[in-house]
Amino acid sequence: MKTAVVTGAARGIGLATTQQFLADGWRVVMIDRDEAALAEAAAPLENAEPVLCDISQPDQVDRMAADLIVAGHSIDALVNNAGVADFGPIAETDFARWRRVMETNLDGTFLMSQALRAPLIAAKGAIVNIASISGLRASTLRVAYGTSKAAVMHLTKQQAVELGEYGVRANCVCPGPVATKLAMAVHSPEIIAAYHDALPLNRYGSEDEIASVICFLCSAKASFVTGQIIASDGGFEATGIGLPALRS
Ligand SMILES: NC(=O)c1ccc[n+]([C@@H]2O[C@H](COP(=O)([O-])OP(=O)(O)OC[C@H]3O[C@@H](n4cnc5c(N)ncnc54)[C@H](O)[C@@H]3O)[C@@H](O)[C@H]2O)c1
Repeated sequence: MKTAVVTGAARGIGLATTQQFLADGWRVVMIDRDEAALAEAAAPLENAEPVLCDISQPDQVDRMAADLIVAGHSIDALVNNAGVADFGPIAETDFARWRRVMETNLDGTFLMSQALRAPLIAAKGAIVNIASISGLRASTLRVAYGTSKAAVMHLTKQQAVELGEYGVRANCVCPGPVATKLAMAVHSPEIIAAYHDALPLNRYGSEDEIASVICFLCSAKASFVTGQIIASDGGFEATGIGLPALRS
């Protein structure tokens, strides 16, 4: 049985990804820092092991990785999904706010990948990092979030280029808007309406639609795909100026 490690697995895109891996016959190590949500999410799932860990904390990540390695699990996929969204203007983004975003979105993705490098190499496994359309296209209020996600994209390429010779693939998925707890905390009704207008498919995506792309990239079906940035965004990245007057 193949094993995937999924961060931010207690809810949203991480939980949907966990469920798709399980349905595909994988075992999943579910990582999250929200103890109650993690326990509740994992309770009904078979072949899922919840592990409490804050991925922004190097000592916690090292302890978690050592435990997994001692337990002798092969690690066939690592999905660096845990992320925080904190949107604010440049003028109100002090260093503490910047670091809060960077420490999970960028440092956590780096730390997890470093800590699980040896078992991933041993299994010729796959890394999938979750960035965002906010890393592909700049927008207001995302000086920290957007920059953290752009960095995750480049980190993915670094990983693909350097780990390729060991048979490890690394790819990045950029979700468009999905109505998870993270998005709903920062998307007002006006923002939701504007997103609908700017998205060629005219709707938010679902957690499952993002999870399918992640699981595909971890599967043998993507065995020659590495170093890629793939948007699952309803066409958002492809659009220019979405003038309603120019529509049929
Ligand atoms: N929902 C969207 O519209 C959207 C769009 C683009 C990108 N994304 C990205 O997708 C990923 C998942 O987002 P979501 O919408 O499912 O979020 P969510 O808030 O619903 O779930 C995120 C999970 O990650 C966990 N987490 C956060 N920081 C952590 C840390 N330091 N250590 C361990 N666990 C941590 C949270 O406890 C939570 O369970 C994020 O990286 C996010 O930036 C989401």
